[in-house]
Amino acid sequence: MLVPAIKILKKARAGHYAIPAFNINNLEALKAIMAAAVKLRSPLIVQTSEGAIEYAGLDYLIAMVKVAAKAPVPIALHVDHGKDLKLIKQAIQQGYTSVMFDGSALPLKENIAKTKQVVKWARAKKVSVEAEIGAIAGIEDFVSVAEKDAHLTNPEQAASFVKQTGCDSLAVAIGTAHGAYKFKGETHLDIERLKKIAKLVTIPIVLHGASGVLEDVVKLAEYHGAKLGEARGVLDADIKQAIKHGVSKVNIDTDLRIAFTAGVREAVDQMKDVIDPRKLLQPANELMTEVAVRKIMLFKSEGKA
Ligand code: G3H
Ligand code: 13P
Ligand code: ZN
Repeated sequence: MLVPAIKILKKARAGHYAIPAFNINNLEALKAIMAAAVKLRSPLIVQTSEGAIEYAGLDYLIAMVKVAAKAPVPIALHVDHGKDLKLIKQAIQQGYTSVMFDGSALPLKENIAKTKQVVKWARAKKVSVEAEIGAIAGIEDFVSVAEKDAHLTNPEQAASFVKQTGCDSLAVAIGTAHGAYKFKGETHLDIERLKKIAKLVTIPIVLHGASGVLEDVVKLAEYHGAKLGEARGVLDADIKQAIKHGVSKVNIDTDLRIAFTAGVREAVDQMKDVIDPRKLLQPANELMTEVAVRKIMLFKSEGKA
């Protein structure tokens, strides 16, 4: 069933586990993550960026997820990194059950004012609102946040932001970065900062940029050019710590992209005579499900549906 994100996020925060929030752009990714969620009976957040909405179309995405939501697990349909207020309003009116307003690149006052506006629209439709304070390094949709400008979330400012805006969940910057760029070095999370934030912010906390190639999925790492033994992405141990200390939603896009690309490359290389897209996409679909299964287990949302 389709539910407001806050319904599953509140339970996750209380139960010290996290809801997996996977980015999708097409039917293949949606079916792959749904297979994992149903198999492990995990609640799920299906999220679409502004770029995904531009690519697939709002109506197609809503229709697909409404069909997916017939599965016996709670699902929220969420706008990821919404910056365009018109698009956010449209998503709220047309069936999304959760939206993120990402005002992290705006002056604080403007971020607060616009988040409040989104909260007002969302309340009327029982839609949940995620907001962001602090800048997460890397690429956030169409805007590049230079590393030098990226700043981590200030706990006191975060608490005051939540109070002023009435948002349902809060994305914080504690050292992660979006995209594959983080795979080039070590990503260490500022868990001490998270602990301080979690003391003051009692609503669910969201971790963006949480991909990290799964340690035993050799194929994925190899296709991405990483050698085993090298540091890559966010470490599983850090994710566990983050969840223990208040993170209740973990965003994963890059790992699914790597899985999809690895599967497609392998299929194209090995099935030289095949022209049936269903056969060529099969390994990619299976790898995406495998990634989703492993994330659900890491986030401890298995059996929580
Ligand atoms: O955090 C951003 C997501 O990875 C979405 O990326 O804008 O390329 O769809 P995208
Ligand atoms: P990754 O690029 O680490 O998968 O992060 C995704 C994300 O934060 C989407 O909002
Ligand atoms: Zn993000």
